[in-house]
Amino acid sequence: MILKGKHILVGISGGIAAYKIPELIRLLKKAGADVQVTTTKHALEFVTSLTLQTVSGHKVYSDVFAAINEHSTEHISLPDWADMMIIAPATANLLCKMAHGIADDALTTTFAAMRKPVVIAPAMNTNMYNSPATQHAISMLSKWENITMLDAASGELACGTSGKGRMQEVDVLIAAAEYALTPKTLLGKQVLITAGPTQEAIDPVRYITNASTGKMGYALARACLNRGAIVTVVSGPCQVSLKPWQEFCPLQMVNVVSSAEMCQATIQAFDKTDIAILCAAVADFTPKDTADKKIKKQPGQAEMTIQLQTTTDIAATLGKMKQPHQTLVGFALETHDEQANAERKLQAKNLDMIVLNSLQDKGAGFGVDTNKVTLLYANGTKKDLPLLMKQEVADAIIEQII
Ligand code: C5P
Repeated sequence: MILKGKHILVGISGGIAAYKIPELIRLLKKAGADVQVTTTKHALEFVTSLTLQTVSGHKVYSDVFAAINEHSTEHISLPDWADMMIIAPATANLLCKMAHGIADDALTTTFAAMRKPVVIAPAMNTNMYNSPATQHAISMLSKWENITMLDAASGELACGTSGKGRMQEVDVLIAAAEYALTPKTLLGKQVLITAGPTQEAIDPVRYITNASTGKMGYALARACLNRGAIVTVVSGPCQVSLKPWQEFCPLQMVNVVSSAEMCQATIQAFDKTDIAILCAAVADFTPKDTADKKIKKQPGQAEMTIQLQTTTDIAATLGKMKQPHQTLVGFALETHDEQANAERKLQAKNLDMIVLNSLQDKGAGFGVDTNKVTLLYANGTKKDLPLLMKQEVADAIIEQII
């Protein structure tokens, strides 16, 4: 969403990971960005100018001195055009040059004129990565306010060895681009998010759960991470992932299964929290007893009863613990008397805001990628949001909390 309509300048230097950059460009364009490319001379040994031109839809800027009439001011006009720059892969040579202001080719002259956000993804052999010169350059560049410096990843390297030096994968570069483009309105704030369903064990192989996929909670986590927050996600079992953000953002994942585990982990993290957003679909009831062994069907058995007991309401518990500097946000998924039910929960759980989604709204609720919510505040005001993608809903909710 953040990338839509953005102008992104991709800078490529001469490392083997350059072969992955056409795919990065394709995905940036798919996300709605317009992409232009500048390269070092050696990058074109690994990926052709024609490939880059074809995927980006623009002429590639690789030689400051060629075709002077056409390109003479590209190193100034491209940084002006761009909203941000991604430099990937960044070789040891390029990092050292950039750190010292050397501008002797198309990429480095463009970078020298770039005052907007820049994401840098180093990639090289482990020994080159660990060399004092490279580490010094990385540490210098990391201090620049407009630079998001990614750590090299560990794994197999093209030189046949294994170690630190791999370029971060394309999904991490895209997450970092979103991060770099988002104003840091939550910088340093501690945010706690519960997400996903819980599983309440009946016996070792059976459990009671619900249809929550975790998509909304994880979208909220992304919105907070992009704004510079320090995020703890207490998550029930679900398929969604925040892995790309984990590579460069302060994110703590606490994976739990049952409502009791979620309750314990959430209470434990609440003390240091500025904003808690309780998005998880926590079971309201759990089996009174969990069988040690798989429950067997008896011959001729017609019925089976599982006795349930209520779980601890995490939101209400935090509502009682809440200090004046803390903000507590809950969710309500309702099928009838939506607003009245949500208002009652807002009061009863001592929340500052409740996000109401009605299952009667088409495109809202579990599993789908869209949601339509109403925000209800403790002071009695309310705000209706239109049907939006879950990430847009998450961004809108966070903007309302700030
Ligand atoms: O009462 P209800 O379950 O509908 O309330 C929904 C809100 O309360 C959500 O924010 C949900 O995460 C939270 N909740 C909770 N602990 C429970 C049940 C719900 O935190 N045991």
